[in-house]
Amino acid sequence: MEFFATIDKIREDRCISKETLEYVLTTDNKDEEAYLFAAAREVADQVYGKEVFLRGLIEFTNYCKNDCYYCGIRCGNQKANRYRLKEEEILSCCDMGEKLGFRTFVLQGGEDPYFTDEKICQIVREIKKNHPDCAVTLSIGEKSKESYRAYFEAGTDRYLLRHETANEAHYKSLHPDTMALAHRKQCLFDLKEIGYQVGCGIMVGSPNQTIDTLYEDILFMQKLQPHMIGIGPFIPHADTPFANENQGSVERTLRLLSLLRLLFPKVLLPATTALGTLDPLGRENGILAGANVLMPNLSPKEVRDKYLLYDGKICTGDEAAECRDCLKRRLEKIGYRISDSRGDYPI
Ligand code: SAM
Ligand code: FES
Repeated sequence: MEFFATIDKIREDRCISKETLEYVLTTDNKDEEAYLFAAAREVADQVYGKEVFLRGLIEFTNYCKNDCYYCGIRCGNQKANRYRLKEEEILSCCDMGEKLGFRTFVLQGGEDPYFTDEKICQIVREIKKNHPDCAVTLSIGEKSKESYRAYFEAGTDRYLLRHETANEAHYKSLHPDTMALAHRKQCLFDLKEIGYQVGCGIMVGSPNQTIDTLYEDILFMQKLQPHMIGIGPFIPHADTPFANENQGSVERTLRLLSLLRLLFPKVLLPATTALGTLDPLGRENGILAGANVLMPNLSPKEVRDKYLLYDGKICTGDEAAECRDCLKRRLEKIGYRISDSRGDYPI
């Protein structure tokens, strides 16, 4: 009974203590877990009804100048089979995506110097010209404020940049010294100031993550007040320094999704491909735990098995249309449907 009251209080106050976070993430009581999921789902349903937003993910380059220890496309991975999509290829992904009903395109890639600001702006302008009713999201890492402003002026609506962890020592254990947490956080505040809908996020169960670091993540998110939060389990990639680390837990990811929904009722919260990779019903269970976004792949089939951030990634052999139909059916089974709107953050 006490646990149920605690969940109700988190929902009401939109804040949580470190002790409660620890309890919620570690309880073995399945009735308590079910109550948490149901409360989060109720909040999501109040804001978004039974509709889930789709984002078409276009993984347009797997070149990256960074060397993040967890990531399969880090520059140090000599085995990665590198590719870049041509502008025409990116544009034709969007054309096909719009026909399939997508109203958001997410251009994601490594930090690839080949794609200068000029090239990115040109691509964004073309997409917005061809698809004025669609939103464009960029997820291309840390850039200067001037670059972010240029992308915004070219028409970019949203930007995803997971902060990865808000704890300094934890951040250092995941990244080489060339990268700095302070800069990553600054990027997020710059993006917000410019006017983007901004997404931060973490990998659940990344090496050295603790309840303390997760609590710092929540405090950071409360300060940033992001419009989107991307969380998915960490999954090791065989050709990275973290090859032998443990993968993140599906259960913990689901519980964190629920807590985030209670703490940030209106936030756009994806049930990620990584969650679907560790559990065949991971994405459905993510929606049932309070998520409201799915991000199927729109990249050309020929390159999908090259954008491998982690081992075992699902849907690398499917056509975009198959993915969309598959997700539609999966959602129907749990009483949800795909929204036909752009899915902006509600004002
Ligand atoms: N370069 C951009 C950036 O840094 O934001 C976007 C691409 S990056 C690959 C996108 C996200 O993938 C990262 O923010 C990270 O959280 C996630 N990711 C990378 N390696 C992963 C792994 N092994 N398991 C799960 N997620 C991973
Ligand atoms: Fe750059 Fe992963 S290290 S995208």
